[in-house]
Amino acid sequence: MASTSIESRLTELRRLLQAASYAYYALDAPTMEDAVYDRLYRELVSLEAAHPHLISPDSPTQRVGEKPVERFNAVAHRIPLYSLENAFDLADLHAWDERWRRLEPDVPKQIEYVTELKIDGSALALTYENGLLVRGVTRGDGVRGEDITPNARTIRAIPLRLNLAHPPAWIEVRGEAFLGLDIFAQINREREEAGDALFANPRNAAAGTLRQLDSRIVAQRQLDFFAYTLHISEETSDLSLPSTQWQSLALLQKIGFRVNPNRECCASLPDVETYYRDWSLRRLDLPYLTDGVVIKLNDLDLQSQLGFTQKAPRWAIAWKYPPEEAPTQVKNIAVSVGRTGALTPVAELAPVQLAGTTVSRATLHNRDRIAELDVWIGDTVVVRKAGEIIPEVVRVLKELRPAEAKPFEMPTHCPVCGEIAVQPTDEAVTRCVNSLCPAILKGALVHWVSRGAMDIDGMGEKIVDRSIEQGLIHSVADLYTLTAEQFVNLERMGRRSAEKLMKAIDASKTRPWSRVLYGLGLRHVGSVTAQALAEAFLSVEQLGKAEVDEISAVYGIGPEIAQSVYEWFRLPPNQTLVMQLKAAGLQLSAERAHPDGPQPLAGKTFVITGTLPTLKREEAKALIERAGGKVTGSVSKKTDFLLLGEEAGSKLEKAQALGIPQLSEEQFFTLLSRKAML
Ligand code: IVH
Repeated sequence: MASTSIESRLTELRRLLQAASYAYYALDAPTMEDAVYDRLYRELVSLEAAHPHLISPDSPTQRVGEKPVERFNAVAHRIPLYSLENAFDLADLHAWDERWRRLEPDVPKQIEYVTELKIDGSALALTYENGLLVRGVTRGDGVRGEDITPNARTIRAIPLRLNLAHPPAWIEVRGEAFLGLDIFAQINREREEAGDALFANPRNAAAGTLRQLDSRIVAQRQLDFFAYTLHISEETSDLSLPSTQWQSLALLQKIGFRVNPNRECCASLPDVETYYRDWSLRRLDLPYLTDGVVIKLNDLDLQSQLGFTQKAPRWAIAWKYPPEEAPTQVKNIAVSVGRTGALTPVAELAPVQLAGTTVSRATLHNRDRIAELDVWIGDTVVVRKAGEIIPEVVRVLKELRPAEAKPFEMPTHCPVCGEIAVQPTDEAVTRCVNSLCPAILKGALVHWVSRGAMDIDGMGEKIVDRSIEQGLIHSVADLYTLTAEQFVNLERMGRRSAEKLMKAIDASKTRPWSRVLYGLGLRHVGSVTAQALAEAFLSVEQLGKAEVDEISAVYGIGPEIAQSVYEWFRLPPNQTLVMQLKAAGLQLSAERAHPDGPQPLAGKTFVITGTLPTLKREEAKALIERAGGKVTGSVSKKTDFLLLGEEAGSKLEKAQALGIPQLSEEQFFTLLSRKAML
């Protein structure tokens, strides 16, 4: 392609993808099928990879995150980012209305209020200069926040460029970054599967994610964003200053933002009250968490006349919904043992109604949390549940502690296998480390047969339990040695069901390598991580041989995950398991993701060293692999090329000593674009 036609194709692709994203995220009215979007996106990625100097900062590809930063810079907000005053009942709402009216006695009784849902997330201020997103800053203390721009760029509901032909010099947009409940639950499921501590609620998860130093992880977390305020430097021919909050919201949506559709313009306080009552139950069906209603005076002139107190605007108030909490009694504290061997204390409760469900168990997390709460068996406690969040004990009503209440001690031995449990001093978790512990085996099996992994239908928890009890299964590989006969001999299993189960087990042999890897349940390796690893390492052998730095070179894989993967493959029982699974016929390798593309580097081995001028190391690696080549971590006689950047170290010396050809990034691009070569 000639360079002008490449440029115009790039512009066209970006325009199409941006329009599709806007329809999907801001308007909630998709216009393009996922498969079409993916195809255009892939075309853009490969065009940009071949012409990196043509990558623009607002390209849809620039949302995947970049190199981790050491820390965030503190920056002052152009306009302080205030908090909101709270109202807890109707009387508080009227008191607020009377308060601001005393300052503006001439305002007529009949005015408009805008009601918005209060999203339980983390505030974010975005600055656009000449239409381009240049900065994203957290609330911080309201006066200064942290510059988390690379993270803000990964949020798809935030446009990288505004929908304006003539943008003003600057625009500042504020809103709430949040996690949908399903994504939140998925993150927690992954964390649980990976043996990591869970996030207590979506707000903590969103705030933690926004401040995550590695924006590649942020990109995977799928934060969402609702915009609610707009500040503009000046009017332009396609943007006139709004005079009401209602107009501001419409404008925000027009210029590219996602704005919560569940807003209303109310003509009176009784209408505000109706909105509040109306949403008190409806909000429980929303895919995100709301903890109240924000009421704002619609007239922006009136807003600026009223101004702010020390902490909050006088023209707005948050009317909170009562928290979904209830008191109940702790009947017992049981200890469950998970797949990773973690001993989790669980409070068994007198059943209580909470957020529309009956709650009879609540997690107490670990021994530190129990000590902090000081919870005893027999205590009356307050439990909380919101959305899909696991119910938890929030506090103990100590004044109600009965005389017969008993303190709880974390067991010193595993309650399942009886082996001594380990309590590392630097961790709150108590762990059973006996790899033969039936609880660990059970956890491993339940995970292996689960939907996201091998998806073995009919292998429910009961059958897993029975198979372990009867000594039929000692590792997941044993599943593949069982016969229908053996299942029939298990209590309550008919021949038909046994045969069906055998078929399901057989079908699991066709699951792709990424799912097998996920199913193996390595610590810190959830389904997203497993997928990334399986794409980067096309077989179990490649992954098993990889060094820690090669593993952590994969997008989204941090040093902790890399270490955990590396160590897993070093343990002899795990090596045996892999061999057994391979012998059983499971998929422990994958075809290249792009088998049809040109393979100019087929059979060539590369080592990358130093900092390349435009490509990140992982990007260079992906390009080499897509073109059929291989990347290794150290120089040897088998190395065909050294891809060389600035500040290269000992690898360069070694390559020189072995006479291995060196390539600059530019030479590398030339090599890539040749079809048949070498
Ligand atoms: S307006 C200057 N509107 O609630 C007024 N805030 O508890 C700025 N929040 O810091 C706030 N949804 O992070 C506003 N629709 C909404 C909101 C909202 C959630 C958050 C915001 C604020 C906090 C105060």
